[in-house]
Amino acid sequence: MDHARQIRVSAASKHYSAICGEGALGIARRDLTRIAAGARCFVLSSPTVWKHCGAEVRKALRSAGAAAPILFDDREAAKSLATVERLCRALARAGADRRCVIIAVGGGVIGDVAGFVAATYLRGVKLIQVPTTLVAQVDSAIGGKTGVNLPEGKNLVGAFYQPDLVIADQRLLRTLPAREFRSGLYEVIKYAAIGDAKLFRTLEENLERILARDSAILADVIARCVAMKARITAMDERESGPREILNFGHTYGHAIETLSKYRGFLHGEAVGWGMIAAVFLGLASGHLLLPDGARIIRLIRRVGPLPILPKASAKDLLATMRGDKKSRGGQIRFVLARGVGRVERGVELPDDLVTAVWRELSTLPTAAKASSLS
Ligand SMILES: NC(=O)c1ccc[n+]([C@@H]2O[C@H](COP(=O)([O-])OP(=O)(O)OC[C@H]3O[C@@H](n4cnc5c(N)ncnc54)[C@H](O)[C@@H]3O)[C@@H](O)[C@H]2O)c1
Ligand SMILES: [Zn+2]
Repeated sequence: MDHARQIRVSAASKHYSAICGEGALGIARRDLTRIAAGARCFVLSSPTVWKHCGAEVRKALRSAGAAAPILFDDREAAKSLATVERLCRALARAGADRRCVIIAVGGGVIGDVAGFVAATYLRGVKLIQVPTTLVAQVDSAIGGKTGVNLPEGKNLVGAFYQPDLVIADQRLLRTLPAREFRSGLYEVIKYAAIGDAKLFRTLEENLERILARDSAILADVIARCVAMKARITAMDERESGPREILNFGHTYGHAIETLSKYRGFLHGEAVGWGMIAAVFLGLASGHLLLPDGARIIRLIRRVGPLPILPKASAKDLLATMRGDKKSRGGQIRFVLARGVGRVERGVELPDDLVTAVWRELSTLPTAAKASSLS
């Protein structure tokens, strides 16, 4: 039985559907055929993703007549301009023209890279996102942020470029490793913490069932996250205001990823730590009361162990945060929890507080060596 839901994303630059749930690939066939009519389709994916999801995706794409997939390395360390160049050259060699459709099949790395390729190849071609991780299904595939990293920082080169369709089929998550699944749950907690107290309670009450990938409850959780991302994108496509709240946990999170050189941490895990840091900051600066802060931290810690934080001096931490694209004129801006389901954005805080919280984080007992996580 298929249980797919269609959610409209009405961004300023483009309106499109996100079809999510079990069997979304089958349901989306008509949309796929319409978008691909008279065009050549190019699947961009990775060897790992294609091994797990290729058969199912190929079946759904049959009517769209996609060529053999172009596979590339989807490690965070390969989310680079060099990979973008390689992909654009592969498209050029394959004779991809302006009417072609790029179909990104994979997690956030593939979605961000292939999205940026779609935004820039021949100044922009059609794009379909087929997210295969929980992070990508609830977050990165929707909303149009695309881009790659520089050694100097995360996602420093990119474009806002909305897809023409998102197909988030929950069946594709079955082969996702446990640690990757947990990584996505931190982004789910983020949505609950910033704007959906009811979702937060659902997570508190059902975390074990969700970790066991109970299909019905997961479908509901994913759809609620997608709907929230769609609402926020419709309000503020280019992050000039309200969309900033999606960066909850990402100021420390991105710094952790950069300081660890994109190794050892999954994106969601860095955000997990980042949300704990944002709660500490909220408590210390009087934005948040202890019972609410404790609830957020408890839920994050219940998801599983987080990797040990990279060693970094206060100076390096602040320099990395200032280099993040979310800072303005060198001033770091935080999103702080005000309660469960409520946040405040654009908060500027003294450097001492930011570094004191960093030291505090390193003393928390439940971290595990990244190599022992699975
Ligand atoms: N654009 C945005 O708005 C946005 C939002 C959130 C995160 N991101 C970005 O997304 C990236 C993280 O994405 P992610 O967490 O999806 O990780 P990922 O893309 O690195 O994928 C995780 C791993 O899982 C494998 N994999 C993917 N799907 C699989 C499946 N179905 N079965 C088995 N293995 C599978 C991949 O090969 C990879 O090794 C980061 O670069 C982050 O910056 C972007
Ligand atoms: Zn994120």
